Amino acid sequence: MRVTKPESGEVLREEFNRWAEAGRGEGMEQEHLPITLPVLEKMQLAPADNVLDVGCGAGWLSRRLAKLVPQGRVVGMDVSDEMIRRARRASVDFENLIFVTGEVEEIPWEPNFFSHVISVESAYYWPDSVAGIREIFRVLKPGGSAWILINYYRDNPHAHQWGGLLAVETHLLSAAEWSERFRAAGFGNVQPERVRDHSRTPEVYTGRWFRDAAELRAFKAEGALLVHGAKEGKA
Ligand SMILES: C[S@@+](CC[C@H](N)C(=O)[O-])C[C@H]1O[C@@H](n2cnc3c(N)ncnc32)[C@H](O)[C@@H]1O
Repeated sequence: MRVTKPESGEVLREEFNRWAEAGRGEGMEQEHLPITLPVLEKMQLAPADNVLDVGCGAGWLSRRLAKLVPQGRVVGMDVSDEMIRRARRASVDFENLIFVTGEVEEIPWEPNFFSHVISVESAYYWPDSVAGIREIFRVLKPGGSAWILINYYRDNPHAHQWGGLLAVETHLLSAAEWSERFRAAGFGNVQPERVRDHSRTPEVYTGRWFRDAAELRAFKAEGALLVHGAKEGKA
């Protein structure tokens, strides 16, 4: 059972609808691709796998996944209905991909369905990550695996300032705390890892997320946190 109020989902929906309307959903592909590609390799997807992309935003990763599982199915899910509208609009050519509006704390899907669940740069927004990870476990079939990738976590001090810059509540947990949530949900073989972004860093940084290029370099050197685990049992 989730412990947060449904209003927190409404706050997230409104904020990420604003992001979607500003075109930020599409823009995130360029930022997140360098840390996501190594995860796709580790997932070792087979053509008939079924994959859930939690917090899919404008759907760029879901489309990439759909190409990797041509005989399987991909579901992109997001709390923001505007992100989902944009994701659907950009994906009309895909027959094995659908998008649904929903919160990770109550995934609108049957149990034991997906072979893989992935979530990129979304989990630190989840109002109740304990319930969210439990839900991910529920919709995975035995033998399936979950992969959560985030840049904002306690062990990387160069991102801590994001909490004050974001308009919604965020949750700054350590690798050990995320891993513990996986284990408490029932996952086995839980492993936290770092995924480094080897893309070029500009000499001068003019954005709002880092003080300067040196801090951005330090942030990238720490790397993103990837936590993955398996729902043990026969597929
Ligand atoms: C920073 S964006 C990342 C989007 C996408 N994964 C990407 O890499 O482009 C975070 C996304 O997580 C979604 N999100 C946040 N909390 C959520 C929740 N509790 N359930 C489902 N989606 C959520 C937001 O609506 C937003 O689209």
